[in-house]
Formats: sequence, C-alpha cells, structure tokens
Amino acid sequence: MNPDVEASQRLFKFYRDCLREIPPVAPIDTIRDSQTARVLAEIFVDHRSPAIVDYGCGALRLLNALLTKCPEREWSYCGLDLEPPEIRFSGEHAQLAELPQRDRWTTDTLSSARQADRSFDVAVLMNVLHELPIADVATAFQDIRRLLKPGGVFLLIDTVLLHEGEPRFVPFYPWEVEELTYGAENRSYVSKSGIPISVFRIQQRNLPCYWGMTSAIHTLMAVKRDHWSRLSAEMSRKENPEQMRALGLGKHRELDYAYLNAIIANASYRVQEFAIRPQLDARRVDECAHAIVMTVQHTFHNEGHVPSAELVFDRLGEQFEYAVIEEALMALQGPVPAYGVLLPITDPRRSLTPSSAWDMLEDVIGVSSIQQRGVRAAVSNAVALDHGDRSEWET
Ligand SMILES: C[S@@+](CC[C@H](N)C(=O)[O-])C[C@H]1O[C@@H](n2cnc3c(N)ncnc32)[C@H](O)[C@@H]1O
Repeated sequence: MNPDVEASQRLFKFYRDCLREIPPVAPIDTIRDSQTARVLAEIFVDHRSPAIVDYGCGALRLLNALLTKCPEREWSYCGLDLEPPEIRFSGEHAQLAELPQRDRWTTDTLSSARQADRSFDVAVLMNVLHELPIADVATAFQDIRRLLKPGGVFLLIDTVLLHEGEPRFVPFYPWEVEELTYGAENRSYVSKSGIPISVFRIQQRNLPCYWGMTSAIHTLMAVKRDHWSRLSAEMSRKENPEQMRALGLGKHRELDYAYLNAIIANASYRVQEFAIRPQLDARRVDECAHAIVMTVQHTFHNEGHVPSAELVFDRLGEQFEYAVIEEALMALQGPVPAYGVLLPITDPRRSLTPSSAWDMLEDVIGVSSIQQRGVRAAVSNAVALDHGDRSEWET
C-alpha cells in the first residue's frame, strides 16, 4: 500500500480510537506480550505462594496468564475494578471459571475491597496509572499500601507511549514515578517496537502515603502538559531527535503529532477536571479533622512525639478516604505566621518533636472547637487569635 495512504489510515484509526467512549481494555488472551511476561516473572521473586491483588484488573488477562502459564505454581488471585469484573466482562469471567482451579481466585469491586479485611503479598497495577484522574492516583497508592501485607510488594507496569488511540491516556515517565514514590526499584525497559515500558517494584513500606500528594500530582500533570507541548514544537523544528527516539517517536510524523496532541489534550483535561472537582462532604472532613486531632493527642501523650502524616493516614485509612484525610490535614494546617504551620505534621517519613504549634492545636483548636464550629472555622479562629496576641502562645 502507498505509504501516504497507510499513514493517513493509521491516523484516522488513531483518532477514531481516541474518540471511542469505552476505553480500550486488552483482550483476555493478550498474555504473550512482554509486559505480562515481566509481571509473571516479578510476582514470584519474593514470594513462593503469593496472594496477588490485581488493581484495575479489566478483562482478567493477568488471571488468564496465571491460570494458563503458571498452573503448577502456588498462588491465589483477587481481581479488583471499579465495576464488578463478572458483570463488565461476564464472557471472560465465565470462560475462566470453566478452567480448573476455580477456588484460587475471586473478584470484587474496589469500593467493597476497601471495607474488607483482606491482605496480599503482591499488588499489580498494570496499565492503569495512565488513565487515572489526578485524585485517583493518590487513592490508588493509598489503597494498595493498605491492601498489602507488611513485607508485600507493589508492581507497577505501564506504557510510556501508545501507538494506538486511547481516550484518557497520559503517560508517566519512569523518573516521574520515581519522584512520586520512595525507594522504587526501576526495572523499566524498551519494548521490541521501541516503546519505553515502566516497570517498578516498590516495597509496601516504601509506598508513598502523604498529604500533598494530590497537589504534587496536579503540578506534575500541568508540567507534563507543558512539556509535551514543547516536544510538539521541537518536533516541528526537527529538534531534539534523541529525545524523540527515546520516547518511541520519530517514525511517522503525522502519527507522532497525533499522539502528542492527544496527550496534551488529555493532560489539560485532567488539570481542568481537578480544578472543578466537587467539594468533599464538609461533615466528613470535620469528622476526620476531629479524628486527626485525637490521633495527634493520643500519640503525643502516649508516645511522646507528634505522629508523621504517614501514621495518620495508616491509622485513619480504614475510616476515611484518602481525599478526606488530605483535605482535613490541609484545613488543619492553616498558615500561622508565628509558627510556620499549625499542625506539626509535615514530613511523611519522620515523627516530629512537639513545637509551640502543639499548644495551639491542643488549647485553641482542640477537639470541642472542631465539633462545635467545624474545622475551618476552628482554624480561622485560632489564626485570628494568633494574630491578636501572639505572646499568649509563646509562654
Ligand atoms: C487499560 S485497562 C487495564 C486492565 C488490566 N490491568 C490489563 O492490563 O489488562 C485500565 C483499567 O483500569 C480501570 N480503572 C479506571 N479508572 C480507575 C480508577 N479510578 N481506579 C481503579 N481502576 C480504574 C479500568 O476500569 C480498566 O479496567
């Protein structure tokens, strides 16, 4: 076929795929690809008989790979997604249920898994990160941290560039994943077709869980949008060929522009979507702020230090969603000129020693003040008092 015709057909297909309402999910039998091979290899590195949770399991192709390629190994599997996999992919579910070893696997929705008391050795997030809204990235990390046993491992696998359309695709570079997590073992590679694939092993204890993560991802997304826009301009000037090659670009000019434009549009959409997201339930945020203050007081009195944000997330994670905890921490923080921050929980990894801010937290904001006024009014009141007579707090 004439190469020009072929390129325009591919371009047409790309845009048509991008505009499809239903995001593509790999068919159940896509189990001989390099990504699946990597995941299967990684799953058994630290655990001989792993309990596996597949977060955003889609059409259950990882389960299919386990059943057909690793039947002799010991493993158990739980596939989670927004909607029940047995309803969304009833045909695939029925097909797998026919195979031997039906007792090794279950499926569930993410919301009910959050309430259940199950824990796993290995969590897999395969080809999910690139389509998550900003707030859901932090939620996914928080969910996975809580679903994993101590000593468990998180496997993150994602594509850095797609040569097919996908309505919500915004890739994360491997170095961005490294920024969002601590101690991630980078095992990324370049596929045979020249596409970089992110592969990370992250120990449960190194999984991030800190307030401000959502806004860090928001900033990252805006930077990413601008970066891909620059790439597009550079491509039109034929600059930076090494970077284009490293990103799997430079083969089909029209298609490359199409990929870049789709990514820029999707990243912009994420930034907008985040800015206009619905307000969280104010009562839940107040309840959570109250629980945080109780946790801080409890830790201070019993352990002699103020807890880290990570500990707050761990203690309250069963009761409150990530976004609610983050919002409550943010509301509690409130800028106080005299002390920098009101609530001395800032470092995700360390417990901080008490400071004078502690006095304010306990005496002015206090539990009853949050209950009576709501967290925002309690903090505003404390800040107003602080402006009025700082010396009162410095004694
Ligand atoms: C591209 S598919 C990947 C499916 C499967 N992991 C695989 O590799 O074949 C992305 C999956 O992420 C799920 N997903 C979308 N938004 C999500 C969210 N906010 N939280 C968790 N999963 C989500 C989708 O329902 C979909 O099944």
